[in-house]
Amino acid sequence: MTRTCLAVILAAGDSTRMKSSMSKVLHPIAGLPMIAHVMQAVRGAEMSDAVLVVGRDAERVTQAGSVDGMAVSSVLQTERRGTGHAVLMAREAIARGYDDLLVTYGDVPLVRPETFLAARAKLAEGADIVVIGFRTANPTGYGRLLVENGELVAIREEKEASDEERKVTWCNSGLMAISGARALEWLEKIDNKNAKGEYYLTDLVEIARAAGGRVVAVDAPEAELAGCNTRAELALLEASWQQRQRHELMLAGVSMIAPETVFLAHDTVLEQDVLVESNVVFGPGVTVESGAVIHAFSHLEGAHVAAGATVGPFARLRPGANLGEGSKVGNFCEVKKAEIGAGAKVNHLTYIGDAVIGAGSNIGAGTITCNYDGVNKHETRIGENAFIGSNSSLVAPVSIGDGAYVASGSVITTDVPENALAFGRARQEVKPGRATAIRERALAVKAAKKAGH
Ligand code: UD1
Ligand code: CA
Repeated sequence: MTRTCLAVILAAGDSTRMKSSMSKVLHPIAGLPMIAHVMQAVRGAEMSDAVLVVGRDAERVTQAGSVDGMAVSSVLQTERRGTGHAVLMAREAIARGYDDLLVTYGDVPLVRPETFLAARAKLAEGADIVVIGFRTANPTGYGRLLVENGELVAIREEKEASDEERKVTWCNSGLMAISGARALEWLEKIDNKNAKGEYYLTDLVEIARAAGGRVVAVDAPEAELAGCNTRAELALLEASWQQRQRHELMLAGVSMIAPETVFLAHDTVLEQDVLVESNVVFGPGVTVESGAVIHAFSHLEGAHVAAGATVGPFARLRPGANLGEGSKVGNFCEVKKAEIGAGAKVNHLTYIGDAVIGAGSNIGAGTITCNYDGVNKHETRIGENAFIGSNSSLVAPVSIGDGAYVASGSVITTDVPENALAFGRARQEVKPGRATAIRERALAVKAAKKAGH
């Protein structure tokens, strides 16, 4: 699109009904503040600049809303005097002159860029105001879109609406695109002579029409325009976001056995032919390459899983876990800040932290890298094709060379050279017949007790 556009995002609300110590737009959806979702959609609709109208938590909201690749500034609305008043807080920016002006809300986080673009396309076709509407079974509380002869003639707020008008189920989402050329002139005509004593942005429809402007409404799905006032609505938005994102990933070639039990973060990357089993949680910063399998009940965060690797069931990958091609991290294993080389196996009941494990190495069940001395973290380095016997403790800093063997049950405190065998445990002793003697003595004690001695 060659037209310039300024987005004005209203985010000065008090968030009273959230019952929260912070502005509602800072609450996360899929691990990302709501306001950042809005800003990403705005950026996706090719906006040149954006102004955030902020109130509560102004600084934090501005910071959370500052996305890369778009010039974002903010203005403070100290008093909430209505949506029309809020948009005019951006007067200076609007006066710079843009082809399009787009108004959207910070607490409506699921809008897709396509919806903004559809509204902008109507402006490009000659409309002066484009209202984004939705149809709902429960219109209570929303402004109603009043249509005559196929034209949008007014938006009537609930409080001003007649009984007849209240029956209308086509509602104002609050999102609006306005021709930049006339925006300021019309916005300044809004007054507050209404039931709430507020400056209603919705009055723009009648103001524009009276000035000979063309006003139209476009439809968008209700789910996309859902807003957030309470924690219960926040949970619904989260569910809706998750469902949409899972669906998109499946269409892009990811298999999910029970998608409704898989939870994604805003930035989860799952390549084609990844298989995700049930009850898997992705925290932020996870990339899973093609052909990898994430088995049931695994939890991943800040991790990279290379092609063909397998994770879980019941595995935990923490930040900095980097699994090489075809490697395996199995049940009840935790990996943190560690490289697992190509084809290496960490299959059972193990903790690997601050470590580098070479390709083809096998880490036996119950192995623990003792990376923390109570003050500092230390590194464990294991070469290629090494074999760590079950139930070993590797006390870092320590390194184990290529092809080395560590005997089961070892506590390894000094470096093991390549191809060496290391024991770090007491030597086994065998006493022939001793078990029989112990058993007989025990039986004698029991018999004596029974006899009452
Ligand atoms: C508004 C619309 C209504 C629409 C509804 C959709 C008007 C007059 N009415 O009503 O037609 O159906 O949204 O949800 O526009 N805000 C500010 N500063 C203000 C006032 C509002 O930043 O002074 C922000 C709020 O934080 C919120 C948004 O603007 O994000 C909408 O404000 P709200 O008071 O919820 O508007 P409604 O009365 O619900
Ligand atoms: Ca509202």
